[in-house]
Amino acid sequence: MQQDITIKITDRNGVKHEVQAPTDMNMNIMELIRAYELAEEGTIGVCGGMAMCASCQCYVLNDVISLERNPDEEAMLWEAYHVKENSRLGCQIPITPEIDGLEIEIAPEQ
Ligand code: FES
Repeated sequence: MQQDITIKITDRNGVKHEVQAPTDMNMNIMELIRAYELAEEGTIGVCGGMAMCASCQCYVLNDVISLERNPDEEAMLWEAYHVKENSRLGCQIPITPEIDGLEIEIAPEQ
């Protein structure tokens, strides 16, 4: 059985949370934020994780993951608001043991 990993998430009110995430449930960061109710219902995960809404945009605050975006993610962020160099779509970041210690901030509502 996989160990849980720790992810640090700053919510849209600037409050920092440290949460445990399971690596064996095929979850992504958007689903994790929803599971812990760290963003208001209906303001995150609007497209269900298809890289088609940018409601799950996050800023990556440390170098645990690469800032490289996949093509769908890049295309979506091109059209989104509040995009920074370290923006990623939470639904495109799978929860795996490699991302233990990741720190992110949820971007403002789209
Ligand atoms: S949930 Fe829509 S882009 Fe991630």
